[in-house]
Amino acid sequence: MIGLGIESSCDETSVAIVKDASTVLAEATFSQIALHKPYAGVVPEIASRAHQEKFPYLLQEVFQKAEVSLYSLDYVAVTMRPGLVGSLLTGFITGKTIAELSGAKLIPIHHLEAHFYAILLNGHKIQYPFLGFLISGGNTALYRMDALGKMNLIGDTMDDAAGEALDKAASLLHLPYPGGPSIEQIAKQAKGKQKKKNPFPRPLHTHQNEIRFSYSGLKTALLYHLQKNPIKNEQEKAEIAFYFQQRLIEHLSNNLEKAIVQNPDLNLVIAAGGVTANQEIRKQFQEICTKYNKTLLIPALKYCTDNAAMIAALGGMYYKENMFPVAEAVSSQKGMFPLEEVTP
Ligand code: KG4
Repeated sequence: MIGLGIESSCDETSVAIVKDASTVLAEATFSQIALHKPYAGVVPEIASRAHQEKFPYLLQEVFQKAEVSLYSLDYVAVTMRPGLVGSLLTGFITGKTIAELSGAKLIPIHHLEAHFYAILLNGHKIQYPFLGFLISGGNTALYRMDALGKMNLIGDTMDDAAGEALDKAASLLHLPYPGGPSIEQIAKQAKGKQKKKNPFPRPLHTHQNEIRFSYSGLKTALLYHLQKNPIKNEQEKAEIAFYFQQRLIEHLSNNLEKAIVQNPDLNLVIAAGGVTANQEIRKQFQEICTKYNKTLLIPALKYCTDNAAMIAALGGMYYKENMFPVAEAVSSQKGMFPLEEVTP
C-alpha cells in the first residue's frame, strides 16, 4: 500500500510518500518560518502563496527519491481541516489533481487527528481507546480517541494555545520566532539557578474536576511584569523564560493528570503537536504516566511539528479499513468528517 500525504494547513509545505502507513519512502518539507519571522507570527496570505510556489518542486523531489510512479499510488491523503483556508486550498487542489490523474483514492484528512498517528512512523501501533493530548501553535486540547475517525473532546483551551502563548512570550522577551524552542533553550540556562519565587500566577484556578486550559492571563502577567521590571541582562531574561515555561508546563501536566484520573479505562496516552518537542514536557508527562501505570507515546521530534508523513500514515489507516472521511471542501472548522464505509 503506497500513499502520498499532502500537508499545507499552516506554515509548513510538506509532501511524503509512505508505505503501509508506517514506512516513509521519501518526504520533503519547506518550512516557511523565515518568511513569517519578521511578523512574529504566520501571515495567511504569505503562507498560501508560498505553498502554491513550493508544491511542484517538493512533489518532484519525493517521487524521484521514492522511485515510485504516480500510477503506483493507492491513495492521496490531503489535510482538509482545520487550518488557514487559503493554505488548505492549495494542498487540496494539488492532491485532487494528482488523485484524478493517477486514479488513486483521495482521502480527506483531519489535521488534528493525524498528529496522533505520527507515532506509526516510529514503528508503534495504535490501541483504542486512547487519550490524545494535542499541544501545538493553534491547539491545546485533550481527546478521548475511541476509534478511527472518532475524537471526543475532553478539554480545550478557553483562549490561547500553549504554543501561541510561547510564541507571544518570546516576542515580548525579544527572542526569535518560533518562541517554543527559543524559550526552551534560554530557560535551560536558568534551571536550578533561579533566586526568587516564580512571579507568575498559576493559570486558571478551575473547579477540581474541570479540564480546561487558559494561557491569556499568564501572557498578560508576563507583559505587566516586563513593564514594571525591564530586563537588565541575559541571566534575568533566562530566569523569566524559565518561570514562564514552568507555569505553562505545570498547567499542561495538571490537566493531563486530571484526564488520566477521570478516564481510567484509557491505558495509552499519545501526546503530539509542535510543543511536545519540548524536553521538559516529555519528562514531566513520562513521570505522570509512570505514576498511573499508563503507556506514553510521543512522536519522534521531526514528526511533532506539521508534516505530510503523518497525513499519509492516517490516510493509510483509513485505506486499510476501507472507511473514508467525506469532505467536499476545505474548512477552518475543527469538527470531524462524516465517515463513509465502503464494503468491498
Ligand atoms: O504542531 P505545530 O507545528 O503547528 C502549529 O503551527 O500549530 O506547532 C508549532 C508550535 C509553535 O508555537 C512553536 O513555538 C512550538 O510548536 N514549539 C515548541 C518547541 N518546538 C516548537 N514549543 C516548546 N518547545 C519546543 N521545543
